[in-house]
Amino acid sequence: MPSLPAFLRLASLIAVAVAIPSQTDTAKRATCTVNSVSSASGLSSCTAVIIEAFTVASGETVTIEAASGATVTMTGDITFDKTTSAGPLFTLDTTNVVFNGGNHNINGNGALYWDGQGTNGGVAKPHPFIKFKGSGTFEDVTVLNSPAQAISVGTTGTAVITNVNVNNAAGNTNALGANTDGFDVEGDDISIVGGTVNNQDDCVAINGGDTITIDNLTCIGSHGISIGSIATGKSVSNVKIGDNTITGGLYGLRIKVDADATDASVSGVTYEGNKISGITEYGVLITQSYPDNDSTPGTGAPITDVTFSGTTTSVSVDSDAFTLVVDCGACSGTWNFGSLDASGGKGHIIAANDATIEGGTY
Ligand SMILES: *[C@@H]1O[C@H](CO)[C@@H](O)[C@H](O)[C@H]1NC(C)=O
Ligand SMILES: *[C@@H]1O[C@H](CO)[C@@H](O)[C@H](O)[C@H]1NC(C)=O
Repeated sequence: MPSLPAFLRLASLIAVAVAIPSQTDTAKRATCTVNSVSSASGLSSCTAVIIEAFTVASGETVTIEAASGATVTMTGDITFDKTTSAGPLFTLDTTNVVFNGGNHNINGNGALYWDGQGTNGGVAKPHPFIKFKGSGTFEDVTVLNSPAQAISVGTTGTAVITNVNVNNAAGNTNALGANTDGFDVEGDDISIVGGTVNNQDDCVAINGGDTITIDNLTCIGSHGISIGSIATGKSVSNVKIGDNTITGGLYGLRIKVDADATDASVSGVTYEGNKISGITEYGVLITQSYPDNDSTPGTGAPITDVTFSGTTTSVSVDSDAFTLVVDCGACSGTWNFGSLDASGGKGHIIAANDATIEGGTY
């Protein structure tokens, strides 16, 4: 527009300059980049979040709270300096999130805390290290060297967690890592699929909720896949534990109910196609005596409908271990154990109260 008078050109430039901010203020920002603690806040209007590599200084925590339905993608590792902050140190809290960790690490530098005492004493350890809240899909990330409990799942809508790993193998050195639970789960409609946990406590512990599936997970050196411990007021129902591989460690599969629990229950637990080997204490332990393994069971938190069905669940235990121990004060129903094939060690001890166990080899 070479012939426009200067004052008109100026007027149109002003109009553009005024119009653009008013448009961008109302639109959601397409992509937000996180590469520091400060850039991780104020994400509520972001529909795509890119997390680049960064280090979190002592005293800081990170919460990713993006717009509902946002994609959150890691392109580098997140590393936490040793801190005295309480956990969680890293929280994903977005509804309908599509989180992809790009197989990067979230590194808790656990070795700077580990003293063999876990969360029962010694050095204060932030826990849980990671928290999944909100809902959606959580994929392809490795939680490395958590100070104590690694991932707490407390989602409030459907959650599918795929190929999420916990690697605390370094905690085996001098038995310094302790209470390094892989996944502690409490919520409804949660699936954990694939991934590997290498740690020094429960691979998965389901503490409460309904419709929970644990499939195709690999657990190494852990305390196995557990329902519980179930405390007063907690219930777990409709759980399927299928096609998992559990290698080594004290326990394979457990249902553990606090001996003093009341107003609590476990119902509808199905095991199928799990491969469990090298267990040193209890292949399968169903107890209402927790924290004891097998002693005087409580009666305030009944267990009903436990089933081994479909593809065989194979359990092989070491020479000092039990294949199957059932220690019930309040159990009922007909429990079909037809697909359980447990062998080795010292055999079984069954005190099933009013439950009838049918089939299976143990
Ligand atoms: C199970 O896990 C293995 C190894 O991680 C993977 O290759 C396979 O696709 C998974 N299968 C299913 C059904 O998720
Ligand atoms: C349960 O058994 C494990 C493995 O033998 C043992 O380490 C633990 O101390 C026992 N728990 C109690 C409360 O005796």
